[in-house]
Amino acid sequence: MCGIVGYVGSKQATPVLINGLKKLEYRGYDSAGVAVLSESSDEILVRKSKGAIKFLEEKIADEVIKGSVGIGHTRWATHGEPSDLNSHPHTNVSGTIAVVHNGIIENYAKLKAWLQDQGVVFKSQTDTEVIAHLINYFYEKTGEIFKAVLETLHRLEGSYALGVVCTKYPDRLIAARKESPLIVGLGKGENFIASDVPPVLEYTRDVYYLNQNELAVLYNDHVDLFDSEGNKIVREPSHVDWDLSSAEKGGYAHFMLKEIHEQSKAFTDTLRPRLVFDGETPSDIQFDEIEFGEDWKTAGRIVITACGTAYHAGVVGKYAFEKFARIPVAVDVASEFRYRNPILNQNDIFIVISQSGETADTLAALRLAKQAGAKVIAITNCVGSTVSREADEVIYTWAGPEIAVASTKAYTTQLMCLYLLALKLGKERHTLSESEYKKLLSEIALIPEKTKEITENQSEIQKFASRQFNKSKIFYIGRQFDSASSLESALKLKEVSYMHCEAFAAGELKHGPIALVDSDTLVVAIATEPALYEKLASNIVEVKSRGAVTMAITIDKTGAFNNCCDEVISIPDIEPSLASMLSIIPAQLFAYYCSILRGNDPDKPRNLAKSVTVE
Ligand code: G6P
Repeated sequence: MCGIVGYVGSKQATPVLINGLKKLEYRGYDSAGVAVLSESSDEILVRKSKGAIKFLEEKIADEVIKGSVGIGHTRWATHGEPSDLNSHPHTNVSGTIAVVHNGIIENYAKLKAWLQDQGVVFKSQTDTEVIAHLINYFYEKTGEIFKAVLETLHRLEGSYALGVVCTKYPDRLIAARKESPLIVGLGKGENFIASDVPPVLEYTRDVYYLNQNELAVLYNDHVDLFDSEGNKIVREPSHVDWDLSSAEKGGYAHFMLKEIHEQSKAFTDTLRPRLVFDGETPSDIQFDEIEFGEDWKTAGRIVITACGTAYHAGVVGKYAFEKFARIPVAVDVASEFRYRNPILNQNDIFIVISQSGETADTLAALRLAKQAGAKVIAITNCVGSTVSREADEVIYTWAGPEIAVASTKAYTTQLMCLYLLALKLGKERHTLSESEYKKLLSEIALIPEKTKEITENQSEIQKFASRQFNKSKIFYIGRQFDSASSLESALKLKEVSYMHCEAFAAGELKHGPIALVDSDTLVVAIATEPALYEKLASNIVEVKSRGAVTMAITIDKTGAFNNCCDEVISIPDIEPSLASMLSIIPAQLFAYYCSILRGNDPDKPRNLAKSVTVE
């Protein structure tokens, strides 16, 4: 969702900005633009275009935009359709101030009406344009750009990350953030802003993660930070210790495929620091980052809240906590939770899960839980994200940067963290015996290796996808843990293939969905619970006899599904209650190959954004 970049230095700004925007493409966007302070005249050169960044590049291919201070933006439309006019940057009437914005200005209609009463003529339908005009209004009043930005921010309601340039101040760029993410990259003789770390990594590893309501003024030789009242703040920058190459494709056709293949390593990175070994044998789980104290042991309930894929991880988590630790779990999508006046108790443990750590609804749920006095644990992949800073305690998934919009390795590492928590809690609450606990630890330690076995043998799935990618309906079914995995499997397929796909608890099929089944239907059963194989096989027979093509993804090695399924994808044997970490991988690959076969770009699915920072 909207990406921002900005540059102050001695290089030509335009290529740096375009290059940076490309590194933010994964966030999802529908148009792109740049604004550069001209080197030779007292004006801002604004160029923007609907569609992919390449259209913007084509537009400016024949001109030399000279200037070394500028801002750039990829827009994901909220107010006003995707169009050249609505694309950012937006300017004041005289074109002396340009602004890029990520977020939503909730009181923009009121501000716009007021500005129109002052005689301002608007060019776009965006909420952002009010910011440019308001800064202009206060600049005329105060004669000072920083003060004008501050005055403007005091009047904005909603969320924003902002980059502002002004012709009267050709040596600087002003940035500000509330809710939407923004970082400042500290280079040598040059400084940057960006919505995320990848755009600045080829220039620097030293960054400021701007906090809520902070501003930054960037010059080529230094950066000043300010609080919301304009008081200077001094703090040490953070150091980024991951590599740009881990954010690039590394020989894979797409980021999604690369990230599916990286899951073995991501599992290892997430698991190993938390496993305690007795010789070669894992003997315990140790979370250095959280207090596993009395509040966990005596908790009455766990409440999990998240959105999208992270919510599906939470559903698997519910099964894990209830099975291993015998503790009740409520799991809810954040956008519902926050408006429900939820019932929270002091002895609830509240877990939010968010890959990006910036999802607006998840953040709102987190804040609600904190207000209610619950202890908030965050599971996130992004160090320095808003969720990580606002939660009481943070468990990081060490998946590395996830660039493809559809989440794969972030999801499976979320599962790993939830399983580790559930097992540890089972031990502490004595619902798992010492021997059960150790057996499960030995099994969980095998997950990275078994993941590799699946990703290294993907040709069966690729072939199956080549026969099924034109089906008009696909259903994923399963029972217990497998019904939770079905939800994520179906979402993955929807996201990247655009095929109509739904997930059902297998026992629910006969209560309605079976009416949809015909010969143009594919039913995929996830089958990792031996005790329920017979029941599931009956459900598969029911759809097969109505013409559906059927496939099973299973740990079974006895042939339990050979008679009822047209295709059986066998995954490595593992303790069934841990199998959710493996059974999702064939489903991710199936989604990926269907996407390719249907001519889609799996990394940038239509209409989707990686990080949804608005409600
Ligand atoms: C968007 C993304 C999904 C993601 C969801 C929650 O919809 O496209 O892939 O699962 O947001 O994101 P989060 O960063 O909070 O996990």
